[in-house]
Amino acid sequence: MSTSITFLGHSGILIANERHSVVIDPFLTGNPVATMKQDDIKCKTVVLTHGHADHMGDAVKIAKRNDSRVFGVFEICEYCGEHGVGRIESMNVGGEVATDFGFIALTQAFHSSSYNGRYMGMPCGTVVKIDGLTVYHCGDTGLFGDMKLIGEVYKPDIAFIPIGDRFTMGPRLGAKAAELIQPKVAVPVHFGTWPMLTQDAGDFRPDGVEVKVLQPGQNWQWD
Ligand code: NI
Ligand code: MN
Repeated sequence: MSTSITFLGHSGILIANERHSVVIDPFLTGNPVATMKQDDIKCKTVVLTHGHADHMGDAVKIAKRNDSRVFGVFEICEYCGEHGVGRIESMNVGGEVATDFGFIALTQAFHSSSYNGRYMGMPCGTVVKIDGLTVYHCGDTGLFGDMKLIGEVYKPDIAFIPIGDRFTMGPRLGAKAAELIQPKVAVPVHFGTWPMLTQDAGDFRPDGVEVKVLQPGQNWQWD
């Protein structure tokens, strides 16, 4: 089954096939590189890696408008529930939740997680299996050796890897992450959004892993 992957800019990814759609970290309002608006996102499943505003983004509004289920750590789901999201799927690092399209898992990430001063639980990455496609979105994180283990366990087709530096890995460490994870294709994210982040993906050159650089708004068909 063909699956469409749309890069929303920054760290946001929309994955959809004929039957299902999942959005990860939909940050559109206030995102200087976003090409889509909150209202453009039609999606029944929202996954949040952590509570920072550049990831929570428009998640609550999108979930309310689409009656989506929101998957994330307990604290993020509690927050969403308090703000009117009707369908929350609390989970935590290491857990998987089966869905009608596959599963959603949360993996560790080395970062922090708060929103408007409120503690938002552990920061995470996520593995999403949507029919035949497995995606590992690392979230915001530094490099860690167990990326190799996550790659072995989930065998992701695509890994979304932050390379913007300063708050996450930069291109050099991101390339090392791709070499550990060994996805079929590595896609750099979390760069170029603001001047303080690395502006291009030229130095993201993992050994032996195909790289695909997506522009914000770009749609990519995975067959
Ligand atoms: Ni963050
Ligand atoms: Mn971030």
